Amino acid sequence: MCGIVGVLGSHEAAPLLVEALKRLEYRGYDSAGIATVNDGRLDRRRAVGKLVNLSDLLVHQPLAGKAGIGHTRWATHGAATTANAHPHRAGGVAVVHNGIIENFRDLRAELAAAGYPAESETDTETVALLVRRFMDGGLSPREAVAETLKRLEGAFALCFLFEGEDDLMIAARKGSPLAIGHGDGEMFVGSDAIALAPMTDRITYLEEGDRAEITRAGAVIHDAAGRLANRAETRIHLDAARVEKAGYRHFMAKEIAEQPVVLADALKHYIGGGRLNLPEGLDFTGVDRVVMVACGTANLACQVAKYWFEQIAGLACDVDIASEFRYRDPVLSDRSLAVFVSQSGETADTLAALRHAQDRVAQTLAVVNVPTSSIARESGLALPILAGVEVGVASTKAFTCQLAVLALLALKAGRDRGVLSEERLAGHLAALANLPGLLNHAVGLGEDLAALAVDIARARDVLFLGRGAMYPLALEGALKLKEISYIHAEGYAAGELKHGPIALVDASVPVVVMAPRDALFDKTVSNMQEVMARAGKVVLMSDPQGVAQAGEGVWRTITLPEVPPLLAPILYAVPAQLLAYHTAVAKGTDVDQPRNLAKSVTVE
Ligand code: F6R
Repeated sequence: MCGIVGVLGSHEAAPLLVEALKRLEYRGYDSAGIATVNDGRLDRRRAVGKLVNLSDLLVHQPLAGKAGIGHTRWATHGAATTANAHPHRAGGVAVVHNGIIENFRDLRAELAAAGYPAESETDTETVALLVRRFMDGGLSPREAVAETLKRLEGAFALCFLFEGEDDLMIAARKGSPLAIGHGDGEMFVGSDAIALAPMTDRITYLEEGDRAEITRAGAVIHDAAGRLANRAETRIHLDAARVEKAGYRHFMAKEIAEQPVVLADALKHYIGGGRLNLPEGLDFTGVDRVVMVACGTANLACQVAKYWFEQIAGLACDVDIASEFRYRDPVLSDRSLAVFVSQSGETADTLAALRHAQDRVAQTLAVVNVPTSSIARESGLALPILAGVEVGVASTKAFTCQLAVLALLALKAGRDRGVLSEERLAGHLAALANLPGLLNHAVGLGEDLAALAVDIARARDVLFLGRGAMYPLALEGALKLKEISYIHAEGYAAGELKHGPIALVDASVPVVVMAPRDALFDKTVSNMQEVMARAGKVVLMSDPQGVAQAGEGVWRTITLPEVPPLLAPILYAVPAQLLAYHTAVAKGTDVDQPRNLAKSVTVE
């Protein structure tokens, strides 16, 4: 996926590039690099690992110049080495790239045969080599890039810089987002508007197939067919200040703690005067099915919402993993509503699924955290979840805010379809109004969970169990734990355990049972007993009565407030997050930027 940035400025470019890359590090942190042109001379610096390594390098080996491009990498082709780090350079051409060039092997062989051998293992270097070859053949930088783009298959956002050209950047997009920023006598390029926020709020989003020739005077954009294109400039409202940890040790801790406040904001936005306040255009009356598509944690929010749509609104609901959706030829109907849930709004698979569904369903709806994102812009309707910037790679506050917005959608569906009475709707809304206070209580369990985490940190495997809407929560608890503590963890439907996974249970395996005292409580407790009968170490998460009723003989208990079923998955997300967080802290892993991951996954 990777983050890219470009600057044609009136000040030194290197500090601006590094500052912008800090805001893009969520896209990958395997390596970082910048290139500048100074009095016509092209030069670059690259460093493996986090951005701080590049900053350190620049202290000892500064890079002058007011024109520059920068990159933060999440490795796809080739290991995280300096040779594979961007910018890639071939002669007088430097390029940064986000995406995957699918035909790079063929191109590389062709280029090598023509006397342009590659030095790195990356797909990106072939792009620089192709441009160089066209320029060696007599083409100008503009012509060479245009010819190169015709040869590329796959997805890309590219930004080029050229030796001898202090006032030229060329940017191109196909499949990966790219924004151009306008300043006063300065121009910028970024993977997203957030990266450019400290420099400008005037943004032009490139469209599929666009190529932009950028000088300090402005951008000349050509569309995929080579015609001059007029792309609108919009003003975006982003907080230019860098998001800070505000005294917390990690962003993840801060973001967990923020949940009562951001959830209250989201509820206030969508509930007014005791009534649902959702866009006019959203009407479930004629909808035959809700199709929900997302990846990772966002997908698990959809899996919880499936229970709500079916139980509260009596509406059929399918949930798909975005990377599977369009390849399995889903049967879609022109009466269906397709919902795409994404924190970043840039996840490549979710975006591709949206495009696949676009003309095949009645309506597309995005539930996103970044309102300027591609998924928000391309959907028929977009509902922001209002979680605020989420920096920690493990999604926390976005998950609970996604759940809250999806719960409101299920209630709206129930009302529109005449399945949910005004009175019961009012009851649900009144219950939701208590959520911020309940989450506050859950956040306060940090110390209990930190104590438990010390023991969990010694485990090799951890299981999570739940039934009903708590089953996806068990999956989320396991996902959170494995991604930041690197402990193997699995979530199961409690009733499914005896069909295989129970073979894993012994005295060394903690089993976290998420069991609010709902209609399925007794059944979940029976499954818990099956674990205890095999010496499994049960952590029971339940409410006071649940703990009193079933807590005897379990290894540990975590007591949460008693809540109506609609609220339980949102509330129980918090102890699951805290357990993962404190386990990672106990293990000393990199909580906010766990290995191999990135915050925004913009490749398939
Ligand atoms: C896990 C996590 C990921 C994301 C997934 C989708 O903690 O954060 O599983 O949920 O990569 O990302 P978005 O929501 O940006 O589409």
